[in-house]
Amino acid sequence: MAKDLEVFSGGVAVITGAGSGIGAGLARRAGELGMTVVVSDISETRAEAVAEEIRAKGGKAEALVVDVAQPAALDRFAALVNERFGDVRLLINNAGIETLGYVWEIPAARWEATLNINIHGVVHGVRAFVPYMLKSGKPAWIGNLSSIGGLSVMPTQTAYIMTKHAVQAFSECLYLEMDLVKAPIHVSAIIPGMIKTGIFDAAAGAGEPEAASRHRTVMRELMADYGMELAEGAKIILEKIAAGEFWVSTQPDMTEQVTAGRIEFLRTQSFPTLAEQARQLLGA
Ligand SMILES: NC(=O)c1ccc[n+]([C@@H]2O[C@H](COP(=O)([O-])OP(=O)(O)OC[C@H]3O[C@@H](n4cnc5c(N)ncnc54)[C@H](O)[C@@H]3O)[C@@H](O)[C@H]2O)c1
Repeated sequence: MAKDLEVFSGGVAVITGAGSGIGAGLARRAGELGMTVVVSDISETRAEAVAEEIRAKGGKAEALVVDVAQPAALDRFAALVNERFGDVRLLINNAGIETLGYVWEIPAARWEATLNINIHGVVHGVRAFVPYMLKSGKPAWIGNLSSIGGLSVMPTQTAYIMTKHAVQAFSECLYLEMDLVKAPIHVSAIIPGMIKTGIFDAAAGAGEPEAASRHRTVMRELMADYGMELAEGAKIILEKIAAGEFWVSTQPDMTEQVTAGRIEFLRTQSFPTLAEQARQLLGA
């Protein structure tokens, strides 16, 4: 039997930011495998639409509104899920936003939102759910959305990149903490190379700076041309998590290429440099 079917053919899956994109793809796949899926998102409409899709195909799903930027909301969410659905087998801390632009041009509120959603959303998702998992003593799987951007750097994507470095480091430490306390909780860092979603569609706000707008357009086109289809990406991610892998890359070649460059940079302690191709993409 395929490992994802063996591990995830039952039990409760909780996915944040599951109203669209990767979260929605993972929710649909978890539903197909037979899990009861808690589809959470800041948008009730989007979460409900995905839950309804899963139910229409004979799966089990419920939509819940959760803003991951609010630690107390994640506490209430974890308590409610535990009470209503019981033990959580799979937790995916997926909700995240892109923010583009030079560091000094991004408004303070957007900086705060990026750090709160992308970093604190993951931290407090884990903090809220893990005590219930430890108490149950049952095997559980946690996947945090890192990124190729968590292993590399890219100017004018600084806000996003630093949050993904944080999620990557957080996930590595969390993996080791589970090992230290001998908990049956598997931790994975999910590293999508590029999966087709709407993450680059919406500008962060009115009057987006020119550099941000140019970068957004380039990234949206790259995603349309080279991105992996959502359903394929979601299938790979759940297979690798079920197999107990820590590095869950959808496009391992991209991960290897980027880490090779990073290792060389750290080994030689050279100045940060931007590849010519990236420079051209940014119109520099
Ligand atoms: N698409 C890719 O290629 C790619 C690559 C690397 C990493 N990622 C990561 O994958 C995750 C999902 O990205 P995506 O491409 O599916 O994006 P997306 O924009 O398609 O979906 C993000 C979802 O998160 C929800 N959301 C936003 N703020 C929220 C909040 N405060 N609380 C709860 N939900 C909230 C949105 O409503 C949306 O439904 C992100 O963490 C992103 O950084 C994506």
